[in-house]
Amino acid sequence: MNDLDDLVQSAEADFAQAATPAELENAKARYLGKAGRVTELLKGLITLAADEKKSRGAAINQVKQHVEAALVARRQSLADADLERQLQAEALDVSLPGRQRGRGGLHPVSRVIERIEAIFGSMGFEVADGPEIETDWTSFTALNNPENHPARSMQDTFYVDMKDAQGRWLNLRPHTSPMQVRFARAHARKYADCGAMPEIRVIAPGRTYRVDSDATHSPMFHQCEGLWIGENVSFKDLKVVFTDFCRSFFETDDLRLRFRPSFFPFTEPSAEIDIAFSSGPLKGQWLEVAGSGQVHPNVVRNFGLDPERYIGFAFGMGPDRLAMLRYGVNDLRLFFDNDLRFLAQFM
Ligand code: PHE
Repeated sequence: MNDLDDLVQSAEADFAQAATPAELENAKARYLGKAGRVTELLKGLITLAADEKKSRGAAINQVKQHVEAALVARRQSLADADLERQLQAEALDVSLPGRQRGRGGLHPVSRVIERIEAIFGSMGFEVADGPEIETDWTSFTALNNPENHPARSMQDTFYVDMKDAQGRWLNLRPHTSPMQVRFARAHARKYADCGAMPEIRVIAPGRTYRVDSDATHSPMFHQCEGLWIGENVSFKDLKVVFTDFCRSFFETDDLRLRFRPSFFPFTEPSAEIDIAFSSGPLKGQWLEVAGSGQVHPNVVRNFGLDPERYIGFAFGMGPDRLAMLRYGVNDLRLFFDNDLRFLAQFM
């Protein structure tokens, strides 16, 4: 039955030659289609005698099974090859380096503020946050700054074209001192029915605004207010706390503080705090870092507290100034120009 073996071999060869599924289907038609060679063989059976028909029929069926098996095998291998090609084409090269993303970082002034918060936090001070648009009362009047008093002109305030409930212009806070009033009043209210009140110990850093601009002044700048009120808090405590703060902040004990008499309407007595390093490029130079003083009784009264019972101190310092000293920057405006070449040095 050589013709049958031949047929199987030639089908296998044809199928192997088919490079695509379409070519394979054409090749299949040549063997198993209506006029295909296997079909023709089967048709030829009618001409045979019954016993011959049986053996020949069985042989042809075997051939047909072989051809079908070869077809299925080739279909599978074409599909496998196709999948393989697709996988190759869509492969991700995971060894390729990723796209670089710029690393962000904190602004030097934010770093300084975080540092101030950490140091005062370690001394038991809370950190409070308040509005930048303030009322006339919280910015001035409650801070013992009477209306029309010349002391108000110490601060060239930005006013907002909008009035508060008392019909007074709102302002962009010229200092963080309104936070003394806001925080102390809330604290006093909270403990109003308790007979005793835990001490107020808070700092309030944030943005402040004044009509002012040169190398050491910017219309927007930062302040950090501090307030410590209790039944027995004195100027001595202010000196200790602020000295400790400066030494921690600048990481040196090689530092002197000077409390220089000054005036603020909301403190009496008042002092500017100057520091001087005993070594380094600024050696011996007195540098003003904060305003301070014992909180004026009128202000304590405006806190909603009895000034006969409660006493304490407040201070207001400039984180921008501290950042300039810590990082050796001599023009304040550099901090606010948003020039990444400058800012990236502090990341
Ligand atoms: N608010 C004052 C200023 O802006 C600083 C200050 C705060 C002074 C608290 C005394 C007490 O200059």
